[in-house]
Amino acid sequence: MAKPIRVAIAGVGNCASSLVQGVAWYRRRLKRDKVREKLGLMHYDLGGYAPGDVQFVAAFDIDKRKVGKPLEKALFAPPNCTKVFLRDIGRTGVTVQMGPVLDGCPGHMAEYPDDQRFIPSAAPPVDVAAVLKKSRAEVLVHYLPVGSQKAVEFYAEACLAAGVSLVNCMPVFIVSDPVWARRFTRAGIPCVGDDIKAQMGATIVHRTLTRLFRDRGVALDATYQLNTGGNTDFLNMLNRERLRSKKISKTEAVQSQLETPLPPDQVHIGPADYVAWQKDNKVCFLRMEGRGFGGIPLNLELRLSVEDSPNSAGCGIDAIRLARLARDRGLAGPISSASAYLMKHPPEQMSDAEAREAVEAFIAGKSKR
Ligand SMILES: NC(=O)c1ccc[n+]([C@@H]2O[C@H](COP(=O)([O-])OP(=O)(O)OC[C@H]3O[C@@H](n4cnc5c(N)ncnc54)[C@H](O)[C@@H]3O)[C@@H](O)[C@H]2O)c1
Repeated sequence: MAKPIRVAIAGVGNCASSLVQGVAWYRRRLKRDKVREKLGLMHYDLGGYAPGDVQFVAAFDIDKRKVGKPLEKALFAPPNCTKVFLRDIGRTGVTVQMGPVLDGCPGHMAEYPDDQRFIPSAAPPVDVAAVLKKSRAEVLVHYLPVGSQKAVEFYAEACLAAGVSLVNCMPVFIVSDPVWARRFTRAGIPCVGDDIKAQMGATIVHRTLTRLFRDRGVALDATYQLNTGGNTDFLNMLNRERLRSKKISKTEAVQSQLETPLPPDQVHIGPADYVAWQKDNKVCFLRMEGRGFGGIPLNLELRLSVEDSPNSAGCGIDAIRLARLARDRGLAGPISSASAYLMKHPPEQMSDAEAREAVEAFIAGKSKR
């Protein structure tokens, strides 16, 4: 089996920072401390691949504090604000290259202080498909801002041109869009998406509780999930026009767990506000109202506080390895088990228990997708 897994990144923001730090952290635990560290992972060994087998070979961004910098420095440049758990990640040999800005930089950010917003570089964009080919990248991870429809489509085209698998961690629908999915299938390229779930985030908790209500015969009548945070993801989402697909993705993730979806005005799920001092700490306020035995009302209130970006990297590291496993097996198009298990808006929704079973069967080679 050819190792390592050659990975490119589009968007060197907080999620990318946590992912790259994490790969170096698990690799260091193995090489220096001789420990196969399982803490924080759903799989240490995934089809023969350990976390440290991920190797970053290219990275694209548009921010002047990141473009032209070594990846290991750009990860810690503002406006990135996630908690640093490994600053010295060693030399990656990767220089962040300029991507086309397109719709990646929302206008309203200009009203905010420099250390809270994107500042586009004046450098000309590189030929992304050519860089992907030259770096021999196998997987491109999309970490672009919500609402960047054009930018995401641009990078998806580059994947098709370069034969690179897409792991789409953000809510522009590519893998779950039948037209794009067919194009990846025809090109013989496996892909996983869309919109990454966090390891222990608002979506998985809300889905699990929704399923619990259903399994225990409790009718869910109304629910909300209000999220606050202080990173650029939350600042970006203050522009409600950019939010459309994020709301669809997050709402469908919960609605799909009900036998009969709730009427639209009985369910409210999405980012509620930007609170700068929270930085990458995301707080979710969740309420569920239902009726149990004899139609007697009950309600549930929950508050979940997480560091947003490492939480998503816990799933990202599996999505990358599953994409590589699919390449090793000569598969093409959406990998439905991996997408259902790790993404909010997969081509095919399953319960999380079914998705876990499906992904384990896929890893063991007992199922094709
Ligand atoms: N944190 C989570 O748990 C989580 C979960 C699900 C989905 N996501 C999604 O993942 C995405 C990334 O999240 P993040 O917190 O890392 O965001 P972020 O704002 O920290 O990073 C986005 C990066 O993209 C760069 N960028 C903007 N336009 C670009 C372009 N055209 N080409 C290349 N780079 C460009 C920005 O400069 C920035 O570095 C978001 O869409 C977010 O909604 C995150």
